[in-house]
Amino acid sequence: MSSNHTLSYEHPFPADFVWGVATSSFQIEGAAHKDGKGPSIWDTFCETPGNITDGSNGLIACEHYDRYQQDIDLIASLGVNAYRFSISWPRVQPLGSGAFNEAGLAFYERLVDGLLAKGITPFVTLNHWDLPQALQDQGGWENRDTVHHFVDYALTIFARLGNKVGAYTTHNEPWVIAILGNESGIFAPGIKSRATAMQVSHHLLLSHGLALQAMRDKGCTKPLGIVLNLSPTVPATDSAQDVAKARLEDGRLLRWYMDPLFNKSYPQDVLDALGEDAPHILPGDLDTIGTPMDYLGVNYYTRSVVSADGSWSPKNSGLPLNDMDWEIYPQGLTQLLVRMKRDYAIPPVYITENGGAFPDPLTATGVHDHDRVKYIDQHIAALGDAMAQGVPVHGYMVWSLLDNFEWSSGYAKRFGIIHVDYDTQQRTYKDSAHWYKNFLAHQKKLN
Ligand code: NOJ
Repeated sequence: MSSNHTLSYEHPFPADFVWGVATSSFQIEGAAHKDGKGPSIWDTFCETPGNITDGSNGLIACEHYDRYQQDIDLIASLGVNAYRFSISWPRVQPLGSGAFNEAGLAFYERLVDGLLAKGITPFVTLNHWDLPQALQDQGGWENRDTVHHFVDYALTIFARLGNKVGAYTTHNEPWVIAILGNESGIFAPGIKSRATAMQVSHHLLLSHGLALQAMRDKGCTKPLGIVLNLSPTVPATDSAQDVAKARLEDGRLLRWYMDPLFNKSYPQDVLDALGEDAPHILPGDLDTIGTPMDYLGVNYYTRSVVSADGSWSPKNSGLPLNDMDWEIYPQGLTQLLVRMKRDYAIPPVYITENGGAFPDPLTATGVHDHDRVKYIDQHIAALGDAMAQGVPVHGYMVWSLLDNFEWSSGYAKRFGIIHVDYDTQQRTYKDSAHWYKNFLAHQKKLN
């Protein structure tokens, strides 16, 4: 592939820009019952027929728990300088409170040391959705006790991995945990209650603030932040109803998280719309949530289009769609970042996930995922555009290193830049992995 093929090659990024790939524990590790790991809510959720489209689960996944060294070698071969992964809470603390599991802690220490040995900075996420089932049995994130259990867990991880880690993230995508897990119930734990969902979101944010304070008290000098899934939310038409609905959905997705994190308040229009479903908030909670962060992680995949009557479908939007039927809309990343800088006093931003699922058949000559190459290329260029407008973006990570367990979609949707054959666990570079590697080598030359 020639270098003038791409848009993003035209942007020289800063020499210290963080370039990475991302994964999460439940999606790649497998070894669900090995070495003392306890069950998570996703282990449980997969057991109910109908929850996962292809009937699959996380028992084996990509066998990363046993193949981590091979995967570190793959990561290094790409030429990235960062790897974002998550720690499985029930692997290191099987019941989510009480005893910790030495084998689990040792695994993550080996992983971190292995990455550092290759010059790769570990970005550690503490909660990428796999809550210990034992805590869910006591009410999960709806129960305020879970907040304090999370802080204990965070401190134990910090005691073990300390300042060797490049950055810590408290939670990945609290909107997804709250809304998909507890309001629509299409994700674990599969609860369908708006009141529960909103209480969950409040407790996630509260535990984030408390964990930041506690980790800093114990000597953490590394950047601490949270990762939000954000999109520009636009009305399907100019009708007053669609515009009003889009404004409220923007409130639920973006302002519900950004306002308390940066302005110590929840958006009034969303509180009004929630009525009795609004969360219980104790005095001092919003001050805790607003504890200053060192960075903000943003996961960006697509825009969100809203119609009041729910009639809008991406299928007739005219934009190209990926295998999840998500619109491919790179300019949305620029729009989102510029708007965030306009409306909030944002710290350095990392794009902690960006990528797409495409069909990706493995052929005798490899996986020719030109759609993904184009997607990544256009989004990196969109990022460059946002930076040119003054948005402080410090890094970008592709989702995902490997094809993996795509939650309710099981293994049918492939987001990896490296193909996984689930029968043999063989990893094969897709064209997008070759492209990313060439892109990164080219960036090095520019610097
Ligand atoms: C965001 C989530 O963090 C990740 O786990 C998921 O696989 C991707 N989106 C793609 O849906």
